[in-house]
Amino acid sequence: MSLPIALFIVLFSSLQLLIEGQLQVGFYSNSCPNAESIVSSVVRQAASSDPTIPPALLRLHFHDCMVQGCDGSILIQKLSSGSPEKDNQNHAGLRGFQVIDAAKSQLEAQCPGVVSCADIVALAARDSIVLAQGPSYDVPTGRRDGRVSSLSDANGMPAVDESVAALKAKFAAKGLTAKDLVLLTAAHTIGTTACFFLENRLYSFSPSGGSDPSINPEFLPELQSRCPQGGNVNIRLPLDRGSENMFDKQILRNIQSGFAAIRSDAILYTDSSTKEIIDSYTGFLNEIFGPYFESDFVESIVKMGKIGVKTGRSGEIRKVCSSFN
Ligand code: HEM
Repeated sequence: MSLPIALFIVLFSSLQLLIEGQLQVGFYSNSCPNAESIVSSVVRQAASSDPTIPPALLRLHFHDCMVQGCDGSILIQKLSSGSPEKDNQNHAGLRGFQVIDAAKSQLEAQCPGVVSCADIVALAARDSIVLAQGPSYDVPTGRRDGRVSSLSDANGMPAVDESVAALKAKFAAKGLTAKDLVLLTAAHTIGTTACFFLENRLYSFSPSGGSDPSINPEFLPELQSRCPQGGNVNIRLPLDRGSENMFDKQILRNIQSGFAAIRSDAILYTDSSTKEIIDSYTGFLNEIFGPYFESDFVESIVKMGKIGVKTGRSGEIRKVCSSFN
């Protein structure tokens, strides 16, 4: 190919990206070359003083993307009137906001008005996965920050006590398949849950009361002693028993064998299509013939990171992540 033609192709495709306003890996490579390294160093530092930070940041990315798209709407702390999205009960327990704010203030000092809060959240999720020894991946960036935050917007978040059909439908509404549902739920390979989310499962499981029969009989007394009936619902326990600090596919094995902590994980093994997907990652010859959990997880999380993104001229680049400009 001659040089002018090659140059034309490069120029044309960059122009196309600009017009279409798509996300792009390395979006800040000219405008703020240290953007990604600033985010990862802030995340690393925060995780070294508080090891519970990586799972918190990964969850934050999911909750951001599911409401109004991945646009940093979850980060808004206060509105001039009404309550922000963040205060919705469906976002209970979300943490890590201060890490996003710290990264933003360093970025503003170096490249004012350039890097969006929504991108910081997406990058911080990737860096968190890496810190938990999971796969690294390129994060397409160029998201803009949303200008809407409303309490009721989060009413439709997937919840722990929902059916597989409801979980599938909520993911499908965001363009995510049953396979994405399984892979993304496997993010529960790291982090913890409050006993609050196990109460129904342990003591008043519907329709008959008592405990969820899908809990392995060996696991039930362990869960009940960690989360006693009428006890402190804020006590936390691992989502991925025995492997909560390591990003790996043990969570899928735990789901298979009745060792999932929360019902929305366990229930994925009761539906034939999601069960088949789980089994495909844990089978005898899976390591040789695939499908491969890590690369498929990466595909799903990159896809999740594109939900409803604002690009080009829509939205804004916030100065401070916790409030609109
Ligand atoms: C299928 C729907 C999902 C439901 C119903 C669900 C529910 C929950 C619940 C109840 C907790 C415990 C929260 C707490 O006590 O602080 C939790 C934690 C967590 N979730 Fe999910 N989740 C879902 C999907 C996802 C997805 C798709 C991701 C990421 C891609 C994710 C990442 C996490 C992480 C990393 C934690 C641990 C947070 C921490 O340790 O602070 N979840 N989830």
